Amino acid sequence: MAYIYKAGVIGGGTMGSGIAYVISYSGIPVVLKEVDKEKADKAYQTIKSLYDRRVKKGKITEDEAERRLALLEVTDSYEPFSDVDIVIEAVFEDLDVKIKVFQELEDFVPEHTIFATNTSALSITAMAKATKRPDKVVGMHFFFPAPVMKLVEVIPALQTSEETVQTVIEFSESLSKLPIRVEECPGFLVNRILMAYMNEAAWALLEGEANAEEIDAAAREFGWPMGPFTLIDELGVDVGVKVAHILYEGYGERMRPAPLLDEIVKEGRFGKKAGAGVYDYGKGVKPIEEIAENLRSKLGIKKREGFDFNRLMIAMINEAILTLQEKVASTRDIDLGMLAGTGFPQSKGGGPLMYADILGLDEVLKMSLEFEKKYGWRFHPSYLLKKYIDAGWLGKKTGKGFFEHV
Ligand SMILES: NC(=O)c1ccc[n+]([C@@H]2O[C@H](COP(=O)([O-])OP(=O)(O)OC[C@H]3O[C@@H](n4cnc5c(N)ncnc54)[C@H](O)[C@@H]3O)[C@@H](O)[C@H]2O)c1
Repeated sequence: MAYIYKAGVIGGGTMGSGIAYVISYSGIPVVLKEVDKEKADKAYQTIKSLYDRRVKKGKITEDEAERRLALLEVTDSYEPFSDVDIVIEAVFEDLDVKIKVFQELEDFVPEHTIFATNTSALSITAMAKATKRPDKVVGMHFFFPAPVMKLVEVIPALQTSEETVQTVIEFSESLSKLPIRVEECPGFLVNRILMAYMNEAAWALLEGEANAEEIDAAAREFGWPMGPFTLIDELGVDVGVKVAHILYEGYGERMRPAPLLDEIVKEGRFGKKAGAGVYDYGKGVKPIEEIAENLRSKLGIKKREGFDFNRLMIAMINEAILTLQEKVASTRDIDLGMLAGTGFPQSKGGGPLMYADILGLDEVLKMSLEFEKKYGWRFHPSYLLKKYIDAGWLGKKTGKGFFEHV
């Protein structure tokens, strides 16, 4: 396993500046590259203000902040990358742009340098193929905001060596992050499982089972820090819809996005940042329920009654079980990812697999079959769930389910 003495970051936008801050804060020298001097300086100011905030909060002294900030260099060239052990790219979410960055880097960095990508959804395997060092290319998926969110998904491409994976896991730990190993699949782990839940919320709203506030209130009552519609307004409805379509392309019918959110994106309702999303933040837009009603009559979707929040949770649990079935991550890492990446309620076990154990896997199967009858094939239970039940591993009540219960 290699040690990281110096890191490089490409792109100093929302994610890149947060990542460079985290690295310097951890005492590791870091160089951040932007497209021009002006943007590089802007990234420097963003990072400096993150330090200023820490000082103001009394978390570190001014001296300490200065020492750590001195570990950061910003630049508009690749020259200072001649001695970096890892580069994390956080440029625009565009495969060609990312490949170009990695190809340009080849001439400047040492042979052993790891190329990590912070992509949310692009093929890491395709990026690896485009470099001269496919075994050293890996996904390192930070969550927003990078200085706060502990989770990092470490995602090997098909070609990535075990040494690269282990080095990046250790490096993430040295940044006081919580790395989990995730096999490459559309949406990776956390966004994939979260999207199954969010999409179910959108279907319930489209079908008129409940209004947005009622669904959000049910989520908060369950223990979530905020409801799915408040969350998507925070994250950006445009971003959410894009991810939803990537998952649809990857998984097909099971992940077909409820067409409701596309409608509001068409109207520029991108969420809080745009003054309107699912909710209105003072822009004076039409209530989402009215849009849902119009869409129902246009598409011939019948109105439903009797909203049950389990509809969202069973969708999430089933997707989590599918990731386990596909060996995308370990049982522990799936729950840890959902806890650290989405704030899965601790009061409900802290993760979807533990929550399934608490409910009882036979109960999860029963609800899945009922929902399948009512809402369709996307609730079809996985064979892994049935296997656990066949083994008599029903969860907490039998002492064993996805976890051991002593
Ligand atoms: N924003 C999020 O919540 C989030 C979360 C996880 C992952 N990501 C991923 O992180 C990456 C960056 O996202 P972002 O939100 O920070 O984007 P952003 O648009 O805020 O920042 C991208 C930056 O990259 C710079 N850039 C582009 N080409 C460059 C080049 N050749 N050299 C140097 N700099 C270059 C741009 O000037 C820009 O400042 C994307 O792949 C995105 O999918 C984003």
